[in-house]
Amino acid sequence: MNPAGLPSSVLVVGAGGREHALVRALSASPVRPRVLCAPGNAGIAGDAECLAVKADDIPGLVALAIREKVGLVVVGPEVPLSLGLSDRLAEAGIPVYGPTAAGARLEASKTYTKQILLKYGIPTAAAGLFSETAPALAYLRSRTVPIVVKADGLAGGKGVVVATTAAEAEDAVREMIDQGKFGKGGRQVLVEDCLEGEETSILVVVSGRDYVVLPTSQDHKRAGDGDTGPNTGGMGAYSPAEVVTPELMRAIDRRIVRPSVDAIAAEGIDFCGTLFIGIMLTAEGPSVLEFNTRFGDPETQAVLPRLRTDLLALLWAAATRALAGFRLEVRPEHALCVVVSAKGYPGDYPSGDPIEIPAALPPSVQVFHAGTARDASGRLVTSGGRVLGVTATAPTLAEAAARAYAACDSIRCPSKYYRRDIGARQLKRL
Ligand code: AMP
Ligand code: GLY
Repeated sequence: MNPAGLPSSVLVVGAGGREHALVRALSASPVRPRVLCAPGNAGIAGDAECLAVKADDIPGLVALAIREKVGLVVVGPEVPLSLGLSDRLAEAGIPVYGPTAAGARLEASKTYTKQILLKYGIPTAAAGLFSETAPALAYLRSRTVPIVVKADGLAGGKGVVVATTAAEAEDAVREMIDQGKFGKGGRQVLVEDCLEGEETSILVVVSGRDYVVLPTSQDHKRAGDGDTGPNTGGMGAYSPAEVVTPELMRAIDRRIVRPSVDAIAAEGIDFCGTLFIGIMLTAEGPSVLEFNTRFGDPETQAVLPRLRTDLLALLWAAATRALAGFRLEVRPEHALCVVVSAKGYPGDYPSGDPIEIPAALPPSVQVFHAGTARDASGRLVTSGGRVLGVTATAPTLAEAAARAYAACDSIRCPSKYYRRDIGARQLKRL
């Protein structure tokens, strides 16, 4: 602890671009905390002390936090949350930002979340819940296409099929329930009406019934330009998502955020962490697509560079139940993050390709590492599908895009691939 009442050390759990952005923002705190990351990656190692404990090694992470006398743990990915990392840290008396396993179930189980949304009258697509094929197929036949079939459980974004024909929807149901494509939990399926519109990501820092809404953003989930090709973990993001006008944001707050936070508390969950609400902006109004219980990746890489507020102060306030009345300060600039991936992602892609990042990038550009490592000779190489997140800030979105793409073009890597149209939807509207 230091004079500002903030912890003097913080451990970030995870190894991706989101965690690099968290590490950067926490390191920039005026109290200059010691920042650790487990396990981190080659780029995070430039900003934090990386420790070789995997993000799903719960006893290892608890032991590390105790040994290093960490003042706050910030958990990045969903898997350790659903394995109960926050529960175990709390038992050990270590403050943590990230929900308990009970809270993480809001992401881990789509059927559980759908039941809560319906119970509390929060806008979401009509859906049927099934664990047997015959009634699921009968329900399908009573609806029209396109229709969405979702497997329960964490499937890394792969358990959702937006079917454009009845045959495709029926195949998805059979694969999920009869063949167990997504494991035992994935035999529970949700057959949901297809919503049309633009998506937006609303990240909410929650502490019990108190919350702070972070700036809006929009992800780009498909691999190819023009939203074509397979779904990925996210190919780029920008903030603010101006499709969410101040008036629409007030409606989202009143109809979705406040009722969701209250519903979660009413269900007996003492939620502390990020509630990431995926929203479809339909002609009938905003509607919830999903809850995640962590920061978004790559949304975080576009949102955090816009915060004027000290992230450490914000997350500490949430973790210590002192969030009521917290005032968030946001820079007026636009931020845009382009994900540089390895060609072939989300399918097969090469690994171990050298990466050269120019030493002198403009100060408005930040390079967040995701799938990077050092080879035996210490060279920076690719080690994952999403390799880097290149974020630029600027007074306009067009300028942020120009700066981010100039930086992406200047990075040398034989297998680099990135979408050319991050932010295009908003730029076309301007
Ligand atoms: P989820 O993991 O539930 O967010 O689904 C992943 C993606 O599938 C979303 O980001 C949407 O692009 C799409 N999706 C999910 N549910 C629906 C829906 N009811 N209507 C249209 N698209 C959907
Ligand atoms: N960008 C979507 C996610 O983090 O799930």
